[in-house]
Amino acid sequence: MAYNPQDLLAAAAAAQAKAYAPYSRFKVGAALLAAGGRVYSGGNIENASYSLTVCAERVALFQAVAAGERDFIALAVVGGDLPACFPCGACRQVLAEFAPDLEVLTGQPGGPLQRRLLKELLPDTFKLNTSDI
Ligand code: THU
Repeated sequence: MAYNPQDLLAAAAAAQAKAYAPYSRFKVGAALLAAGGRVYSGGNIENASYSLTVCAERVALFQAVAAGERDFIALAVVGGDLPACFPCGACRQVLAEFAPDLEVLTGQPGGPLQRRLLKELLPDTFKLNTSDI
């Protein structure tokens, strides 16, 4: 499906502005394009009990899955003011549950992008059944 990567990155930046990150002060935004064309976004949500923090990527994915989406095309991530911010390992596993062929983009709006396939970022994901391998 054709899409505009800069538009998806702009949606991630808009979500980043709404992140709740008072402890790390590192705001992340993610925007996930579903196969039907809708975009679901989210920022990281931290907690005083630090380990309960949820990353931006999972906030976006869970919004989408809760809305009934199951198939995804691309994910854009904006982290702080870094030129690139790829999803952490935990988020890679959670994303792979739904979208092994996902395209992952990262950068800053209007700037250069880096692109990877999720299966390049996390080959050989954990699976419960070896017949899936
Ligand atoms: N964070 C994300 O939102 N996504 C990632 O892929 C890794 C880290 C958040 C968690 C925490 O709120 C902050 O970035 C610093 O680790």
